[in-house]
Amino acid sequence: MTSPKQQCAEKALDYLKDGMVLGVGTGSTTEAFIALLEPWRNRLEAVVASSIATAEKLKALKMPLVELNEVGKIDLYVDGADEINDHLQMIKGGGAAMTREKILAAASQQFICIAEKSKHVDLLAKKAPVPVEVIPMARSFVAREIVKLGGQPEYRIGVKTDNGNAILDCYYLDCIDPLALEQTLSMIPGVVGNGVFAKRRADRWLHE
Ligand code: 5RP
Repeated sequence: MTSPKQQCAEKALDYLKDGMVLGVGTGSTTEAFIALLEPWRNRLEAVVASSIATAEKLKALKMPLVELNEVGKIDLYVDGADEINDHLQMIKGGGAAMTREKILAAASQQFICIAEKSKHVDLLAKKAPVPVEVIPMARSFVAREIVKLGGQPEYRIGVKTDNGNAILDCYYLDCIDPLALEQTLSMIPGVVGNGVFAKRRADRWLHE
């Protein structure tokens, strides 16, 4: 019997086309998708990874892995989410990869989110924290700015992003307007990226 994550991943295969440049996200649902990619090894033009962990998995399958700088655009980006709403806006970054994920999503023609039905929420960030990637020397400053916004930041101890930065998991931020929150967080000096995906939301959500 296939798990819900595998069922989501299988559905994304329908969107693959010969000669595509594929972007691949990070996390356990994406991992289930990667496990299905071997038959596509010689059919895709190139594959771009959103994290070192994903790159390692793709390398193990001998997929045609390239850096984003080597391709003009990504045709299709497939990634999971921690939360998703009716507008296909998301909270991401449970795996600390949201900054690179957001770059790949922005560079992609089409963004497919593969996430179980249980990830659906009416209001983003009510339960899940918003992960914020910060330059280490700015961590306390950014934390104080988050508090001013009404949030409660928690330092994700022992986690260093692929970019060498720290993560603050921010609870209780007002996310009634996800676009506004995404923008506000982006403007804090020292913030490298945040897990609100509103400006570049998913084009499609595939669930079990
Ligand atoms: C990683 C992410 C993941 O897509 C998100 O955390 C969902 O992970 P999973 O598929 O393991 O539930 O944003 O930064």
